[in-house]
Amino acid sequence: MSDPALIAPDCTAPAPVGMHAVFAERLIAWQRRHGRHDLPWQNTRDPYRIWLSEIMLQQTQVATVIPYYARFLSRFPDVAALAAANVDDVMALWAGLGYYTRARNLHRCAQVVVAQHGGEFPASPDALATLPGIGRSTAAAIASFAFGARATILDGNVKRVLARIFGIDGFPGDKRVETAMWALAETLMPGADASSAQVSAYTQGLMDLGATLCVRGKPDCAHCPFAAECVANLTGRQRELPVARPKKTIPTRRTWMLILRDGPAVLLERRPPTGIWGGLWSLPEAADEAALAVRAGELGAANTLARLAPLTHTFTHFKLDIEPRVADYDMRAPQGARELRDEESAWVPLDELDAYGVPAPVRKLLEGLKGLKGSLL
Ligand code: ADE
Repeated sequence: MSDPALIAPDCTAPAPVGMHAVFAERLIAWQRRHGRHDLPWQNTRDPYRIWLSEIMLQQTQVATVIPYYARFLSRFPDVAALAAANVDDVMALWAGLGYYTRARNLHRCAQVVVAQHGGEFPASPDALATLPGIGRSTAAAIASFAFGARATILDGNVKRVLARIFGIDGFPGDKRVETAMWALAETLMPGADASSAQVSAYTQGLMDLGATLCVRGKPDCAHCPFAAECVANLTGRQRELPVARPKKTIPTRRTWMLILRDGPAVLLERRPPTGIWGGLWSLPEAADEAALAVRAGELGAANTLARLAPLTHTFTHFKLDIEPRVADYDMRAPQGARELRDEESAWVPLDELDAYGVPAPVRKLLEGLKGLKGSLL
């Protein structure tokens, strides 16, 4: 082995000799025959459309993204329209996709492109990577698809593909392992003489291999163009590679949420701009049952709180147990919340939730109320 980049850290087996010479060529040929060619963000060179798709596709599957992508583009057809939008409208269209920092960065990025780049996305991966929400791999994907740049991607799917083919034995989130993977990914790229169509096919091929054959659960090695060399396939280690994140039990937090009803409407409050669900519309909350009862009284609740079934939502770093409670608004409350309709709180009819950015679990909770007529109490 002459190329140190091909010797993976903690590697049980050295990388297959000669693979880097044939990797790109074989991947491009496979992508052209068996890859995906009709995704809504393909067959365009419009950097805005490509950028939007790459941000939506971070941590989110293609099937989930497709309807969001279509709605987003019909509302904000270009970067200028998005930059000029109200951030609440952006958040409302994003609600349900999760990882909401992406939506705030998306809006900020559009504003930076308009204010600092004359409304045109820069073409180089380095310049793209300075923009809000665009990391090294996303910058490379945009530069490759929109501008035909010879730039290397390394997202979660690609890490899985490389870990298996090259038998990389460390956790890919580990800095040392990640650095070695970047170096390996660079060496596998098509040559400097590759056309922009070849570069795009290569980049898409890496994504397609990870999404359609070299999947997390049960990879389809029988159809893989690298089956004959793949370390994981040859050693039966598909389930062990890539190495899982070292187990750390995540803490659980508990919160009590108030569904204050007035006929078909419920009271929503806007969450603080930072922290979980930053800037989204959610239910009034408290840290325990007694504190929620006090809040409910202040907001003009007429009756004691009725329990609904608890639900759990898992974030990356913790679990949130939600204890929902329902109360009806008291029309006679002297200083209740009925007059509230300002920047921070609003009475929202359940069939108008779409106009508000509401976190997915809260939305699920409220959807469950729609069939419920009259008081629960
Ligand atoms: N995941 C990330 N980027 C993607 C793309 N352009 N096509 C399909 N899946 C992706």
